[in-house]
Amino acid sequence: MALQHEKLGGHMAAAVTGIDLNTLPDGPTQAKLVDALHANLVLCIRGQNLAPVPFRNAMARFGTPMLRKQLAHTAECAEVNIISSEDRDELGDGKKLVNGASWHTDDSFMRAPCSLTMLYGVTVPSRGGDTQFTNMYAAYDDLPAEIKARIDRLKVIHKYESSRKTNRVAKRPETEMAAMPEATHPLVRTHPETRRKALYLNANRMEQVVGLERAESDELLDALIGHAIQPKFQYRHVWRQGDIVIWDNRCTMHKANADYPEGERRLMHRVIVAGTEPF
Ligand code: SIN
Repeated sequence: MALQHEKLGGHMAAAVTGIDLNTLPDGPTQAKLVDALHANLVLCIRGQNLAPVPFRNAMARFGTPMLRKQLAHTAECAEVNIISSEDRDELGDGKKLVNGASWHTDDSFMRAPCSLTMLYGVTVPSRGGDTQFTNMYAAYDDLPAEIKARIDRLKVIHKYESSRKTNRVAKRPETEMAAMPEATHPLVRTHPETRRKALYLNANRMEQVVGLERAESDELLDALIGHAIQPKFQYRHVWRQGDIVIWDNRCTMHKANADYPEGERRLMHRVIVAGTEPF
């Protein structure tokens, strides 16, 4: 069966059907998937039924899966992390924790954050639990020329535990925290493959713009986040069981919603693939 494409959002996101990733795609099919991802920023591959190892192997066709052993992961494959409605802040207050509840791009506190994230809907709730995305190319393109000129060369310090964070983040072991020094990234980054410019923001991890006083930095970052998350730049993914959603962290932000009915389960398997230092 040939790949079938469907546009999901007006300006971003597409879905493909007609592929079973238990069999690895051949070269031309994989190239079409990569092209669809670059063109749409968020790519949903529908109707999958994958154990952790085949999931990891299919995602490895897009890049090198990162091993984050310290995060919850499947018994079968340490590169497949688990995001679930049962997640708790095990090393902190033990309370329920929603991973990714505020707008962010994955792992920007690292010097070389992951390029892509793949989330596989193993169990999805009957309603709610959508993932929202925002198009950071479009957000950048839409800025007035004088703002672009002001921010084009600015850099921002990102930290795992930023003092600006807008939601709780899981406590991590001291050893892991020590191995995560802050990272400084451009506020406007160039995508290494498409060469397009995108705003690079993370509401939960940005600490301060380098060279600006705190108040001025906060004002600028708040204004840019407010600009980037306007509904006109967003796509909201309503999950179907068996969806794999792949997004490009270099030109999107995303946000999880824990608004599904009490007692219902949401279980996602996640693979992230390695990226380069933003420039
Ligand atoms: C994440 O932010 O990586 C998780 C997104 C989700 O669970 O919808």
